[in-house]
Amino acid sequence: MLGEVIKIQDFKNEKHVPTIDCIEKVKANEEFEVEIQVGKEIKHPNTVEHHIVWLDLFVHYDNDPNTVHIGRYIFGPTLAEPHVKTKIKLPKTGTLIALSYCNIHGLWENTKRVEVF
Ligand SMILES: [Fe+2]
Repeated sequence: MLGEVIKIQDFKNEKHVPTIDCIEKVKANEEFEVEIQVGKEIKHPNTVEHHIVWLDLFVHYDNDPNTVHIGRYIFGPTLAEPHVKTKIKLPKTGTLIALSYCNIHGLWENTKRVEVF
């Protein structure tokens, strides 16, 4: 059910879609920086009435049925932009999944594949 209500679109045309910026190939268990944001192309409103409440980051490893939660980044309205840089490390190849939540327009998703060698 949740997969049916999470929206996926091109971030260049839709202001709610989170973007994930990081390197695409990395050594196993080596730290690397990941930048996640809503508003890279089109700014989202940031008011008490209408704002991005949180971003979640997950990884789904290849050939593994389970998804791992990496972090949740929570924002207050008006002063905090929904934009974070964090450091992570991955033991094996997988797909990063970013999820954003707008208090009016719901859940939005984007993905980025990271190859681990
Ligand atoms: Fe919104």
